[in-house]
Order: sequence, then C-alpha cells, then structure tokens
Amino acid sequence: MINVPGYKVGGILYSAEEIQEKVKELGRRISEDYKGRPLTVVGILKGSFVFMADLIREIDADVQLDFIAAASYGNKTESSGEIQIKKDMDITPAGKDILIVEDIIDSGNTLKYLRDIYLAGKNAKSVKIATLLSKPSRRKVDIEPDYNGFVIDDLFVVGYGLDYAQQYRQLPYIAWLEEENPEL
Ligand code: IMP
Ligand code: MG
Repeated sequence: MINVPGYKVGGILYSAEEIQEKVKELGRRISEDYKGRPLTVVGILKGSFVFMADLIREIDADVQLDFIAAASYGNKTESSGEIQIKKDMDITPAGKDILIVEDIIDSGNTLKYLRDIYLAGKNAKSVKIATLLSKPSRRKVDIEPDYNGFVIDDLFVVGYGLDYAQQYRQLPYIAWLEEENPEL
C-alpha cells in the first residue's frame, strides 16, 4: 500500500461505484447542454486525467482533447494564487466550445486564472468548467464550476487522480488523508 511518511488514508469518501454514477450523470448533462456540438475538452494535468478519461466516454458528441499543465506556487496543501503555465494548449481555442476539466476546485485560483486570464482574448466560442470535487468553504476568488460532481468539506482528499506528494493517484476511490500521529 502507498505510504507517504507521516500520513495514512483515513477512510473512503466516495467509492469507485459512486464516482462512476456521478461521472455518468455529468456526462449526460454535458451531452444535453451541447446538443451534439463538437467539444474541446481540456484537462488540467495531472490530477484531472482519471476523471477526464471516464468523463469523455460519457459525452455524446465529437470530442477533441487537449491538456494544460499549471503550477501554483505555495506549499503542498495551500495555493498562493500565483499561477504558472508549464504546458500550453496545442489546439487553438478560437471558435471552439471549450470544456476545462479539473479534479478539484479549492481556492479557485487555478481555474480563475485559466478561464479569465489565460483563455480570455483567445476568442473561444464558449468556456465552461467541469470539476469532480469542490470545496466551497476554501474559495478565495469568485469562480464556480459549471458542472461539479461532489461538494466536500475542508478535507484533503486523494485518489482517482488526486495526489499528495505525487502519490495515491491510482486509487480507484476518493479517500481523505490523515496525519499518522497528529499529537506528535
Ligand atoms: P486551487 O487553485 O486552490 O483551486 O487548487 C486546485 C488544485 O489544488 C487542484 O488542481 C489540486 O491539484 C490541488 N488540490 C486542492 N485540494 C486538494 C485535495 O484535497 N487533494 C489533492 N489535491 C488538491
Ligand atoms: Mg491539480
């Protein structure tokens, strides 16, 4: 089992089955809203890749894929608000319906930057956001996903693409992470 020193998987928040049900529901809503129009789905690396892989198979439209890698300065669990693009989009957004796919929206800094600064002025036909998870109590900027799977409390979660120190991404479920000896 994966073991990051000092931490352990606390418990399962959403099982693989619950996640699949939710992803199907999101896929249905997206398919209805775009009414079969071709869609450019842009995943934010790396956390979104598992969710994105499942979501695109539930979308009933022609899908073009792209990826952006963005890094926010800060420590492992807290973002600073300063976003840096590590990998740009390959597809030109002009005239496209863009759906940004992210694992989790926390402070909102990453998605705010990508939608309102990075993609602004690139003449996309539309830009929407799909996230699997949202922690509204942590929001620092005014941004909400157009499609969100689960609203969660202020917990640090891992699995289904989400990491801590680059570990736990392959877990098929979403779990919360706990300190092993919080009293120490
Ligand atoms: P934001 O810019 O603060 O909204 O941060 C979003 C990014 O922080 C996500 O793409 C994740 O990489 C990371 N993140 C935020 N909360 C968690 C969590 O609970 N588990 C794992 N990664 C998280
Ligand atoms: Mg991420």
